[in-house]
Amino acid sequence: MDRIRKYDNTKFIKASDKEGLKDAAMHLRNGEVVGFPTETVYGLGANALDKDAVEKIYEAKGRPGDNPLIVHIHDKSQIDDLVSEITDNARKLIDAFMPGPITVIMRKDPKIPSCVTAGLDTVGIRMPVHKVANEFLKLCDCPVAAPSANLSGSPSPTKASHVYNDMNGYIYAIVDGGDSDFGLESTVVDATGEVPVVLRPGAVTKAQIEEVCGIGSGEHTNVDKGETPKAPGMKYRHYAPSAQVEVIDLPDNTDIDMEGELSEEQMKALFEIGKPYIMKTKELIAKDPFSRIGIFCGEEVKDLFDRLNDNVLSSHVEFYVYGRAGDCMAASHHLFDGLRTLDVQDVALILAPGFAGDGIETAYMNRLLKAAGKKGDDTKSSSFARKREKITFGSDSMVTLSVLFVCKNNRTLSAAAEGIFRRMITGEAPYCLNDDRDTEAEIYCESAGVFATDGENADSKMIKAVKDLGIDISFHKTTRALASVYDRNDLIITIKDEQAMDILKAFPDLEGKVYSMSSFLASKGLVIKDDKGRVISLAIPDPEGENELTYDHTAKALEAWLKIMFPYILKELGVMRI
Ligand code: TXA
Ligand code: MG
Repeated sequence: MDRIRKYDNTKFIKASDKEGLKDAAMHLRNGEVVGFPTETVYGLGANALDKDAVEKIYEAKGRPGDNPLIVHIHDKSQIDDLVSEITDNARKLIDAFMPGPITVIMRKDPKIPSCVTAGLDTVGIRMPVHKVANEFLKLCDCPVAAPSANLSGSPSPTKASHVYNDMNGYIYAIVDGGDSDFGLESTVVDATGEVPVVLRPGAVTKAQIEEVCGIGSGEHTNVDKGETPKAPGMKYRHYAPSAQVEVIDLPDNTDIDMEGELSEEQMKALFEIGKPYIMKTKELIAKDPFSRIGIFCGEEVKDLFDRLNDNVLSSHVEFYVYGRAGDCMAASHHLFDGLRTLDVQDVALILAPGFAGDGIETAYMNRLLKAAGKKGDDTKSSSFARKREKITFGSDSMVTLSVLFVCKNNRTLSAAAEGIFRRMITGEAPYCLNDDRDTEAEIYCESAGVFATDGENADSKMIKAVKDLGIDISFHKTTRALASVYDRNDLIITIKDEQAMDILKAFPDLEGKVYSMSSFLASKGLVIKDDKGRVISLAIPDPEGENELTYDHTAKALEAWLKIMFPYILKELGVMRI
């Protein structure tokens, strides 16, 4: 979408400038677009009841009009007028969390123009708890449609200067209310149905929502191409830094008293926190002596780099310190600013810590992985356009199904399994559903590793071994096995037994969908014997570190076992060859 510069300069208004605030509010009400602060991120507001004003938001953002906007209010009494139904769940969420960092999706009232909701019959309502936001929205005296105030494809703004960088000349004014308190966008919850469904994780957690609604909740926060997104915004890659983003694991315990001289024990702990960053940095420098690396980290990590006093290392890195290493709240608060700051320093790669947990960590990881661009864009995993639902065209219909192979790092065994299995699928295509032969089935496969880092190449020895089977996996890029990856597949097969068990322990809901190679065969009652009648047990040892011959054997063994499994996998998916 073309952006047209409309103003010589966008007005920059301090929150304390009462006249300025009034002027900006009046202009917003009369059809102009104004950037304003909230506790989550800055918003780009326009009069939600004025179709032309709302169009200006899309123009200023360079954002396609198929992504609905959130309607902001300053008083709960405005809600009745904007929606046609307030379900029990919606009522409970409003009572418990508004004002606050939550957006509640309800059925919309016809008076909201359809360009606000991108044609949906629902609307997201949000009442910020931020003092300046509240004051400003009240002065506007109309519902305010506002997305985050970034240029489409940039990280959401958490400072007025971010908005200024993205929007100067394109909007009427920006209200400066200082840094956003939280720093990640609001939790978006669809409250139109029986169970609340979290469409975007945020400061209000799934557990809090379940507690308030007194019922389990759904989650639909990752969307692949081809699927109709529940929160359409989730399908866009939110931030495409020229830098790659890579997630670094933190140790369980990051609590070190950093005051004064550190004991040997404390030094050890410090090293544990900083080591993965240092290893990764060294690895990158070894690969490319000109590479510059951005490090989004806790102060402990920077401290360790300083202590090492290694000139080579330090000449390759730029730091953005968010606070203490284990403080996910601080990391969340600074994430978008960190990405923006490091990205303009021309780094090739940004290292950022991953946090485990199902509170605020979920929101942080959701944004971080989006920044890493591994979901819903043009990376390998989305090269398969998944359409889980049956698609009908005329008298024909089609479903897609997919199989995931999982190993440890996704560089060797599962990468090979994916390549080998893919060739089997294409060799046997086309398929149809067993119980509905008029429905064609497309089968896809992908692979991931429970400890993989995203975007690495396959093991070169494995690439070669698989090539000898006539299969090319040289384009393979590793994928981290995450809940969302499990979610988008219909059948999950791990190379080793303990991996299947670990996945099931972490995600009991996946029961019936996860097998190891050997448990899959066993579940089909298959016992394989050699020509002397001896039972062969399936064991595929990891060839890593071994010689090429071992790799060749491994690739052949994988192929042989997958050949045996193939018809049973088709059966498990409910499909057959046409
Ligand atoms: O914290 C926030 O929510 C910020 C501040 C400014 O309030 N706003 C924000 O807006 O993040 P935006 O447009 O960047 O993201 C809104 C998200 C998108 O993913 C959009 O698809 C989803 O909410 N959304 C909005 N209305 C929806 C609806 N009716 N149904 C489903 N999803 C909706
Ligand atoms: Mg946004």
